[in-house]
Amino acid sequence: MAPIRIVGTGSYVPPNVLTNDEIAKRVDTSDEWIMKRTGIRERRIADPEQAVSDLAKEASMKALEAANMAPEELDMIILATITPDTSCPAAANWLQAKLGATNAVSYDLTAACSGFIFGLSNAEQYLKNGQYDNALVVASEVISRTVNWGDRGSCILWGDASGAAIVKKSDTGAEILSTHIHSDGSAGENLLLPGGGSATTPICQESLEKGLHALRMVDANKTFKVAVKRFAEACEEAAASNGFSVSDVDLIIPHQANLRIINALAGRLKVPTEKVFVNIEKYGNSSAATVPLALDQAVRSGQIQPGDNIILAAFGGGLTWASAFVRWE
Ligand code: COA
Repeated sequence: MAPIRIVGTGSYVPPNVLTNDEIAKRVDTSDEWIMKRTGIRERRIADPEQAVSDLAKEASMKALEAANMAPEELDMIILATITPDTSCPAAANWLQAKLGATNAVSYDLTAACSGFIFGLSNAEQYLKNGQYDNALVVASEVISRTVNWGDRGSCILWGDASGAAIVKKSDTGAEILSTHIHSDGSAGENLLLPGGGSATTPICQESLEKGLHALRMVDANKTFKVAVKRFAEACEEAAASNGFSVSDVDLIIPHQANLRIINALAGRLKVPTEKVFVNIEKYGNSSAATVPLALDQAVRSGQIQPGDNIILAAFGGGLTWASAFVRWE
């Protein structure tokens, strides 16, 4: 069987920029505090008429173009998101229709910030077992619509974005050597988006007053520490399962949640910060979309070169954590 490879990547961010200074006009915070505690300077916000599938379409079209494929050739669409256009149908189905990917089965995948890597792992299994030959794995979030813009402890973190990859059985492209995915449902309360779920629907005056429609973080400091630990474990697992040590890896592309988390990860792994991709200053945390957005930027900027061994790693609500080990060719 031909190896399973990433044969094209794409990404999209909405044009509207929201700076820290603008947030500081709404809540008691400052550019200096946000930069120091998170490394975020600005983030993108989707236009009111843009839903998750619209952002996903832009990223997907670029990935298809890079893979030299037409939408009709797609066998599968896996869309990772926690902010779908609608609870039913799946955002992936809206995307399928917008792309005209008439031959693809489509579904959403919910694994919060780890969603893209969970999606890669899903695609890898279907391709390995021979049921399909290719998949579009795309992550897209319009998380700005779920943010409580009055909560200075969390509203500073988030941004909207989308990123995509075409995965295919192929003799050329970047080989996916492994994926690993993990969950811990007992800590799910720490990062919660109740709105739209059966525990809160139908939304009523009481649930609105309680703010149940908005994203909420509990014990963010605790999540910070768990994130560093799980991130490091994910990177070590990815490297070890391919006979490498993390220091042999050319580039780590981590989920972008907080620059301090990323720097702590590099310190724990004893990896120089130049080997860790960072773009959080411009985009903040776009949940599942950070990893494919960063991957596409690293590919298109030439930061990834043929022969490089790459680890994609994520940690997110759920809790979830995941890794993929990819050899670029
Ligand atoms: N501006 C100014 N002050 C703020 C603030 C803001 N935007 N947000 C919080 N503060 C205040 C707090 O009220 C607190 O004040 P106090 O000491 O008087 O009580 C102080 O700053 C420190 O707050 P703390 O929560 O300890 O800050 P922190 O260094 O932990 O940074 C986060 C907060 C949220 C940036 C950080 O904990 C984080 O990134 N956590 C993980 C986030 C997460 O869960 N991401 C999703 C999973 S991937």
